Amino acid sequence: MNQDDIATKARAFVQATAAAYGGHVQDTASRQSITRVFDALDGSETIQPQPPVRYDVCKWVNDVTVPEGLLGDVLDSFRALEPHLLWSRRTGSRANAGPGFEDGHANAMVVGKNALIRHDRVSLGVSLLAPNIRYPDHNHPPEETYLVLTEGDFFHGDSDWFTPGVGGSFHNTPMIQHAMRSGDTPLFAIWALWY
Ligand SMILES: [Fe+2]
Repeated sequence: MNQDDIATKARAFVQATAAAYGGHVQDTASRQSITRVFDALDGSETIQPQPPVRYDVCKWVNDVTVPEGLLGDVLDSFRALEPHLLWSRRTGSRANAGPGFEDGHANAMVVGKNALIRHDRVSLGVSLLAPNIRYPDHNHPPEETYLVLTEGDFFHGDSDWFTPGVGGSFHNTPMIQHAMRSGDTPLFAIWALWY
């Protein structure tokens, strides 16, 4: 597969993701953040293909099902792009990580400083958890808007665990503590960060 084909697939994922966020965000902070994110992506970004890396846990993406339409377009475009992605394991704190976390999770960044689509102010990527995995508590300076494509629980700040559900979306303010956990099915979520 040549670089132009990978670029086309990556941009198709960004476009599908932009449309899905547009149709699913709930609150003003999310709306403002995703507007900043996707306005900054105009298709002129440098593409920097990387040697793909995949973990056993990535097979769980095959179990994800979403309704046709905006979410289906995101999932289809992700699956087309996935063979070209460099999946990675979280670096940094394991605070409150659950049993099996290391082998039970993977993240992939599509847009970002060192990602396939290079950008200094946007990170756009995905997290995948196998069933019954609890991701560590973490925080980061950029604000973040999630779009969730499966069941799974989240918390941020002082909130209890909540379940956005398929197509659910919520906003994390800068440095707010947050985490996610899967139940009996895998968790697959998209995140968009604005630096
Ligand atoms: Fe985060």
